[in-house]
Amino acid sequence: MYAQQKKTAISAKNQITERVLQEILQQNKQYASQGKVADYIPELGKMEPDAVALSVVDTNGKVINVGDVSKKFTIQSISKIVALMVAVREKGEAAVFENMGYYGSDKPFNHFGNLEITGKPLNPMMNAGAILTTSMIEGDGEIPFQKILKMIRYITNNNTIDYSKTVYLSEKETGHRNRGMFYLMKNNGLINGTEDQLDNYFKQCSIEVTAEDLAKIGYFFANECVRFDGDATYKSTDLSKLIQSQMLIAGMYEFSGEYARRIGLPSKSGVGGGIAVCVPGKMGIGVFSAPLDTHGNSVAGYQMILDLATQFGLNVF
Ligand code: DON
Repeated sequence: MYAQQKKTAISAKNQITERVLQEILQQNKQYASQGKVADYIPELGKMEPDAVALSVVDTNGKVINVGDVSKKFTIQSISKIVALMVAVREKGEAAVFENMGYYGSDKPFNHFGNLEITGKPLNPMMNAGAILTTSMIEGDGEIPFQKILKMIRYITNNNTIDYSKTVYLSEKETGHRNRGMFYLMKNNGLINGTEDQLDNYFKQCSIEVTAEDLAKIGYFFANECVRFDGDATYKSTDLSKLIQSQMLIAGMYEFSGEYARRIGLPSKSGVGGGIAVCVPGKMGIGVFSAPLDTHGNSVAGYQMILDLATQFGLNVF
């Protein structure tokens, strides 16, 4: 649906308040019925289709939450932006992208992309590139996963965050395409380690978060990797530019181009129903609603972001 065509009863306001967010949530939660909860990972199929949450961390770092904000869901592919941050901080961008492209794609997130042709993943947002990225983080066994978890806990300032063992085991048991990519990259000489490295990817996808946690992640990358409470331990303008550019070109997979046209904000979705959004230099937005469209993006989540971006003129273009 075109942003210009979207009907809304809410008039333009210049301040984001709980009341405005509540209106946006109420007007868009109906869209959940147009989507389908992911069930290709059996544990994900058990998610409640009616839970909806919207969270904003505003320009002052203030958190505004509405809806089912205490509802936890798995972060899934949104973990890929944090894994990319950890890998680039350790190895440098040149090394991380030595065997991976900066390409967008018209293919879904679990497509093999160029692996059979150039031997290299298209980008770090699709599964192949994300598995490669996590495999580059240093440390044996579970250490790379622990580093990603620690970074997510830091960014959200939420030490209660952990992963769901049942979702992890469900992913491990059924992630045959991901395993195929892992071994093809091993065959191509891009990955040298054991299947522990793939397990780390499954574990990072199984980390449980709330919409508020996602808004804080969005805020962090939107604001030069400075945390919502002002902590600047990891401040890096360059890293935030890299991550946001990847979110813009591939964060919503094959829908990224159309999403950039309609919403114009770097965003990352996950099949758990979450989307983390950066409003560069300003805010972070986190949404949750489990039913997905055919691209694997939350339907009601997308509509809430569209309303928010339209009403407040957030589109960076
Ligand atoms: O690899 C998978 O299939 C999932 N663990 C993550 C995929 C995902 O979230 C794609 N995003 N929309």
